[in-house]
Amino acid sequence: MAEFVPVPSFDLVVFGASGDLALRKLFPSLFHRFKDGQIPSDSRIVGVARQVMTKDAFRKTVSEGFANLAKGDPSAEEFQAFLALIDYVALDATKADGPWDHLVQSLAGGEDKVRVFYLSTPPSVFGGICAQLRDAGLVSPASRVVLEKPLGRDLKSAKAINDAVAEVFSEDRVYRIDHYLGKETVQNLLVLRFANALFEPVWSRAAIDNVQITVAETIGVGSRGDYYDKSGAMRDMVQNHLLQLLCLVAMEPPNSVDADAIRTEKIKVLQALVPIGPADIASHSVRGQYRAGLVENEPVKGYLEDLGPNRTSSTETYVALKAEIANWRWSGVPFYLRTGKRLPSRRSEIVVTFRPPPHSLFGNGGEPNQLVMRLQPDEGMEMWLQIKEPGPGGLRVKSVPLDLSYETAFTLRYPDAYERLLMDVVRGNLSLFMRKDEVESAWEWVDQVIAAWESAGTQPDPYAAGSDGPLQAALLMDRDGRKWRDLI
Ligand code: NDP
Ligand code: BG6
Repeated sequence: MAEFVPVPSFDLVVFGASGDLALRKLFPSLFHRFKDGQIPSDSRIVGVARQVMTKDAFRKTVSEGFANLAKGDPSAEEFQAFLALIDYVALDATKADGPWDHLVQSLAGGEDKVRVFYLSTPPSVFGGICAQLRDAGLVSPASRVVLEKPLGRDLKSAKAINDAVAEVFSEDRVYRIDHYLGKETVQNLLVLRFANALFEPVWSRAAIDNVQITVAETIGVGSRGDYYDKSGAMRDMVQNHLLQLLCLVAMEPPNSVDADAIRTEKIKVLQALVPIGPADIASHSVRGQYRAGLVENEPVKGYLEDLGPNRTSSTETYVALKAEIANWRWSGVPFYLRTGKRLPSRRSEIVVTFRPPPHSLFGNGGEPNQLVMRLQPDEGMEMWLQIKEPGPGGLRVKSVPLDLSYETAFTLRYPDAYERLLMDVVRGNLSLFMRKDEVESAWEWVDQVIAAWESAGTQPDPYAAGSDGPLQAALLMDRDGRKWRDLI
């Protein structure tokens, strides 16, 4: 049983408290930290949204959200104790006449405590909320702000948000969330690379042939169609989650685990990404959009039907990219990225494929060595090696994995990424959050890919829900004499 060190008592204000993210992720995560004794019982959590409702009605909404997730019994004593920490204030957080006085009252007496403002609202209102917080006199010296992703929809809007937030909060008090950085296996990537001397000598173009990063989802856009249609897989997933994973695989060793040491190394990777412009867009990228099909044996609708009646859209629900990093370590090693909705399985993984032996003693048998880091489901790691297949009569080479499943190796319950990240905000640990320049560099690269798509004027390629994505994605690999790792 892991011991959880309690964090200091804090006040947390969740803007957007009635939204999908807050009810599905933030409140359940806070409950689990409370249940494990990590959140002191004199901490206070205040939900904010425009919809008018009483504190009790809001607590009921949180309980119902929790019950729907089937993550535990909301009537249990410990859940009731958790609900007792929660208050609710109705206000329009972008308006000076919010009204703010109820929030001021709700936070009274907590001026010396850690105070966290979690902005789980559309990013377009982040700047406005920060200005109103300042004008309402709510920003105490121990205040910090958490910004949800995606931060804006391009470099220009991201800069505008960063500048507006910076007028109220200094950079060391801004926590830009990318929840992938809170996942256990993602954090383990740093440990794997930098706590094992084994990997560094082979972690470069000298021994690595290519890297594949996949985040495949079985879900469609669900009730988030309005948001998603303005965003698409590139802004929703690649700009943040996939590029963060790429950075962790490709970065140089930081000189410490300090937030800035790690973030400085990550930004160097983003700055070294080779632009994909109009000349390369067709050979280096694929966009797709799902049509009706069968996912896990269930019939599902296509993207346009998911959006609603009579809708048209050229938004991509699938992206595959061939990214290249122009530096000494990675020159010539392609990083293939792919992500999509309504794929055949939920699978996020990083696959590092090594070069074949320089001289083959055993004929053509066998596959190259691969290191597979599984992020979800079934977190773990596989190192695929060549061995002699047991038995007499000849020397047959076979590929087999050394397989580490976290579930088998550790019997702990796996905390949701938000549990870790929320506690890090209270502790003041910025390591797993993105710095301003990091987010802006990621947008810079993504913006020119989107601009190249726009200037090509092509539509996303259709793919059947439950398939591996558009055929063009397989061809992107095929042209390089490689193939994607199977999704099933
Ligand atoms: P929702 O649309 O479900 O919720 C938005 C919330 O913000 C509602 O509670 C809404 O309540 C509130 N809100 C909007 N405007 C204001 C305002 N002016 N003042 C006060 N409250 C306001 O969005 P999500 O929960 O899906 O997303 C929230 C954020 O999290 C977004 O930035 C999104 O990109 C990000 N995110 C979401 C994920 C998800 O899985 N849902 C995953 C990763 C990131 P009301 O209308 O009553 O004001
Ligand atoms: C979010 C995206 O950031 O990540 C969603 O907005 C996506 O579209 C989700 O479904 C995937 O997260 P996870 O943790 O389920 O892989």
